[in-house]
Amino acid sequence: MAIDAAHYEGREQAFVKHTFLDKYLPALIGKICSRYDEFVYVDGFAGPWKSAAGENFEDTSFGIALNHMTSQRLLYLSRGRNVRMRAYLVEKDPASFAQLRQAAARYPKIEVTPLQGKMEDHAAAIAASIPQQSFSFTLIDPKGFPAISSMMPLLQRQNAEALVNFMFDFANRFGGTDLIPTLEAWLSTGAADDWREQIRAVSGEQREQLYEELAVEALRRTPGYVYAPVITVDKVLHNRALYKLIFLTRHSEGLKVYRDSERRALDAQAATRSASKAKRRETGTLMGDLFADGSDAVPNDRSTQVIRRSQEEASRRLQAMLANADSGFRTLKECWPLILAELSVTHSWLGRQINDWRKAGQISAPSWPSERTQIPSDEQKLRWNA
Ligand SMILES: C[S@@+](CC[C@H](N)C(=O)[O-])C[C@H]1O[C@@H](n2cnc3c(N)ncnc32)[C@H](O)[C@@H]1O
Repeated sequence: MAIDAAHYEGREQAFVKHTFLDKYLPALIGKICSRYDEFVYVDGFAGPWKSAAGENFEDTSFGIALNHMTSQRLLYLSRGRNVRMRAYLVEKDPASFAQLRQAAARYPKIEVTPLQGKMEDHAAAIAASIPQQSFSFTLIDPKGFPAISSMMPLLQRQNAEALVNFMFDFANRFGGTDLIPTLEAWLSTGAADDWREQIRAVSGEQREQLYEELAVEALRRTPGYVYAPVITVDKVLHNRALYKLIFLTRHSEGLKVYRDSERRALDAQAATRSASKAKRRETGTLMGDLFADGSDAVPNDRSTQVIRRSQEEASRRLQAMLANADSGFRTLKECWPLILAELSVTHSWLGRQINDWRKAGQISAPSWPSERTQIPSDEQKLRWNA
């Protein structure tokens, strides 16, 4: 079931986040079902939060996850594989928790455990209840800054991935002020002692980059995640970041699916931001010439620019990798994880780019299977023709 943009008026950022989850989770769960006997979804700050979809909660993170878990479980049952699926849903607010508990009953194929209270107090026990050989996906989507160290038992699991929302806009305003101790603790976790001075010394994009690195390092270093790419979710009517979705995985396969899902989320962001601005313009409530530079159209949106710049840089890097190969050839699988780790491009985009170069005679690709092949296998050997 595709998520419906109509449920997200006034909370377009949630639409971007949910578009990501809606694409990522079924792909992840599908892979898990063929390799693991149990999948556990942990939603640490579950809500429901401003849900407009009524009783089916299809515009909430837990609703999206439980729907996909149900579909995948049924699919694999029909193939003779009984994969156990559990979900822990934690919510502090009593009114939201009451709704959450009711909603849980809608998913009889999943063992759902709603837990009232603070995620900080539940995380360790949840982690302890998950057998080592089971796979867990944890969503940490608070409104502020939780005590991040209390989440570590879940993040440190080996068979695990996570998505963590870092509220950049708040961090940018309050970081280094000691007004939010949990934010200070988060940023200090993996940082140099002088991180506050470093932040104060820069502004704009550099400052944003520094905050992002501090937030990411704190999450990835101790648990030892190999990949920690970030989706920047923007304010709707301003060209500024609101929050950062930090994705954590140990596997290149996870990274590959992440980039496909990120692409879907960035496209959704460009479309919703430009539609919101157009609507404001029609009603005459868009301030002055705020977007006179044309940055309100989809091709110019910040998300679209991220994709465009990433593709340009990925082309350069791949070309350099293939040109500098010691043995003359590199396989695709030697190249793509390094590129996808840092740039917002998909594996299939990279494959099509290679095919274009091959057809133009710019690369040698011996034993290319057929002219119908657009995306080479990971074993395909490649060499840049000088
Ligand atoms: C941003 S909303 C979550 C939205 C949800 N993840 C989604 O995408 O549909 C944050 C939720 O966390 C709850 N909350 C706040 N602090 C909490 C805490 N320490 N532990 C658990 N829940 C908390 C709030 O009541 C709110 O419902």
